[in-house]
Amino acid sequence: MVNMEPNIIKERICSQDGSCDCLTVGDLAPCTIVIFGASGDLTARKLIPALYHMYLTGSLPDPVSIVGCARTPLSSDEFRSLMQEACEVNGKADMSGWSEFASFLFYRQLIYNSENSFRELAAYLSELDGQWGTKGNLVFDLALPPSLYAVVAEMLGRAGLADQHKENRGWSRIVVEKPFGRDLDSALDLDRTLHEYFQEKQIFRIDHYLAKETVQNILMFRFANTIFEPIWNRGYIDSVGIMAAEKLGVENRAGYYEQAGVIRDMFQNHMLQLMSLIAMEAPSHFESERVRDEKVKLFRSIRPFSRREGEVVLGQYGPGMLDGKGVKGYRQEPGVAPESLIPTFALMNFYVENWRWQGVPFCLVSGKRMARKETRIIIQFKEVPHSIFRDVLGEKIIPNRLVLSIYPEEGISLTFQTKNPGARVCLRPMTMDFRYDTGSVLDAYEKVLLDCILGDHLLFWRQDGIEQTWRILTPILNECEHCQGRRQHLHTYPAGSWGPDAAGEQVDKIRDRREVKSAP
Ligand code: BG6
Repeated sequence: MVNMEPNIIKERICSQDGSCDCLTVGDLAPCTIVIFGASGDLTARKLIPALYHMYLTGSLPDPVSIVGCARTPLSSDEFRSLMQEACEVNGKADMSGWSEFASFLFYRQLIYNSENSFRELAAYLSELDGQWGTKGNLVFDLALPPSLYAVVAEMLGRAGLADQHKENRGWSRIVVEKPFGRDLDSALDLDRTLHEYFQEKQIFRIDHYLAKETVQNILMFRFANTIFEPIWNRGYIDSVGIMAAEKLGVENRAGYYEQAGVIRDMFQNHMLQLMSLIAMEAPSHFESERVRDEKVKLFRSIRPFSRREGEVVLGQYGPGMLDGKGVKGYRQEPGVAPESLIPTFALMNFYVENWRWQGVPFCLVSGKRMARKETRIIIQFKEVPHSIFRDVLGEKIIPNRLVLSIYPEEGISLTFQTKNPGARVCLRPMTMDFRYDTGSVLDAYEKVLLDCILGDHLLFWRQDGIEQTWRILTPILNECEHCQGRRQHLHTYPAGSWGPDAAGEQVDKIRDRREVKSAP
């Protein structure tokens, strides 16, 4: 291995004097990582590049073996060369460790609905485990279309691969990606199948937003400082805006997206997770169950809403210009129905029914093919209760604003008023900026894979959270998908814009930087 201390995970933390140091946060047990869907896009784009980078940084267990499984007939050598190409294109370029990393990679052809095929896989994994000394520990990563989750979980169970600590076996964990169902009923069905064979502690439901540095930082920011918490409520906060704007269109994912749309794709998971981190109460410990309890409590307090004017705006991108080039509209994208009514943009106003947040709107906005990729959370504070400057300034004082930026910059900025130097009484807004200057130490997929190997659920969804988010969204999805005026309610916006006019004012509030720019 390239690294010197292969069994130790290192993460950068900052000590109190501001200097950064490496901290050992746990021992990584040897294991075999089995990827289902190994010939697919997610494996090539995210999973293998993440595992390779973990190898380079010494954050993979030792020993480890990685077995790709899919329907496509491939030899292990063919799989290795495909993955090498993928890492050259998608990974972090340093290919010096590739040949040793490639020696941990294997491939097995598999038929997903055949118990026999899974029994053969079980025998193969047991043999590999004997050769590599991976102590019977298994991670099963389902990089598959969601329609196969239940089938694969069942086959794993029937082949005895879900059993933990039996017959000299170590642990067995299953990793599933969203979507976790397409509504409350299907989420419950999927969960029933998973739980038939796996216990909750064996199940890791990924939300890659939770592994982003700035997203993880929200809890540190709120609960490792005393100065923000006393004002983090309806007394001081006017509104919260959460925006995830993307430049990308549907790309080659029409098959999935035509069934999902933006509410299932972004709101049921990433957007509501961001909201829960901003709005939840302080957990008693920074520990997965305690943190997830608080999130679920928050989801339970979200007011059920119907499609009242302005509370939900749905849009779909039409043709437009992006970076000076003409781009197609959603309906012209390959695989999309020419009359498709699937929304690619949504603005939704949520309210939380508790003492802290009563009456404070949480405006969540996400869309594809927007002008820029920008992910940010804006805490808009209230205006001062009484302006002593109104006679001299004759203008409204711009309220404070706290921006948590997730993309493209990762950082936090706070805007406040100061006196403009000079004889005249003038205010000028100043912005105090904090930027993560080293880039992320671990990319989101590296972080989730690591936590799964460590058995830490903090950054993963728990089933009750999923059920609560579907409870909130299923009625609105039903209303949007079955209402009479579905076509009229779907506003077209040009690709490369900031979404439909109907959402314009609120979107401007969330993204507009002009009013908060510091004076030179
Ligand atoms: C995924 C969605 O979960 O998140 C995609 O399925 C979306 O449609 C992506 O593009 C956005 O993630 P990020 O990290 O690029 O903001």
